[in-house]
Amino acid sequence: MNISVYYSSITGNTRKLAAYVTGELRTAGCDVELLDSSDTVKKNVRCQQEPEVIILAFWCRRSGLDDLSTEILSRWTGRKIIGIGTIGGNVRGAYGDRVKENVMKAIEQDNICLGVGICQGSVDLKRIERRRHLPKESKHYVSPEKYRRVLKTQGHPDQEDLDSIVSFVCEILRDLHTC
Ligand SMILES: Cc1cc2nc3c(=O)[nH]c(=O)nc-3n(C[C@H](O)[C@H](O)[C@H](O)COP(=O)(O)O)c2cc1C
Repeated sequence: MNISVYYSSITGNTRKLAAYVTGELRTAGCDVELLDSSDTVKKNVRCQQEPEVIILAFWCRRSGLDDLSTEILSRWTGRKIIGIGTIGGNVRGAYGDRVKENVMKAIEQDNICLGVGICQGSVDLKRIERRRHLPKESKHYVSPEKYRRVLKTQGHPDQEDLDSIVSFVCEILRDLHTC
């Protein structure tokens, strides 16, 4: 089965996830091409194959897709797409559900969404540091409590996160009876 994995990543979490999923799917016998969404958009690098399934690996921005993933998604119609992503917020519970729903809706606009799986990503501490010193009234202020939660994201995606996304993807592909 031909699969193209497009990833968008700023600090490396999603690249790590996409590379791991690619490796595991290759080991399982799939023909997988790994593409940097940034190269595809900015340098117009095209995929070498006509994929049966596209895996869109995104990082979460504003509770949905990052801009590059949105841009690349807008180029496709009628494709079978699996969304996988790393997020800074809580994966489990209402927030994670909201992110998955937003991404699913974005994919379903012009394509067929086979599923959306998310896992924890590390939040960039450099970006957070400045916000810890903002006035408490600012909506961007990071409280000590929030900062403690951010510290817990460090080291993610870990092996368990990576394996959970591989299982998620493989289950979908198994249901397609092709991989
Ligand atoms: C500008 C910006 C906006 C973000 N917005 C969100 C958000 O709305 N929700 C969330 O859960 N994480 C958010 N994050 C955290 C990233 O989604 C998370 O750290 C992700 O793992 C980064 O992936 P990357 O290392 O591949 O760039 C944001 C990060 C940045 C830099």
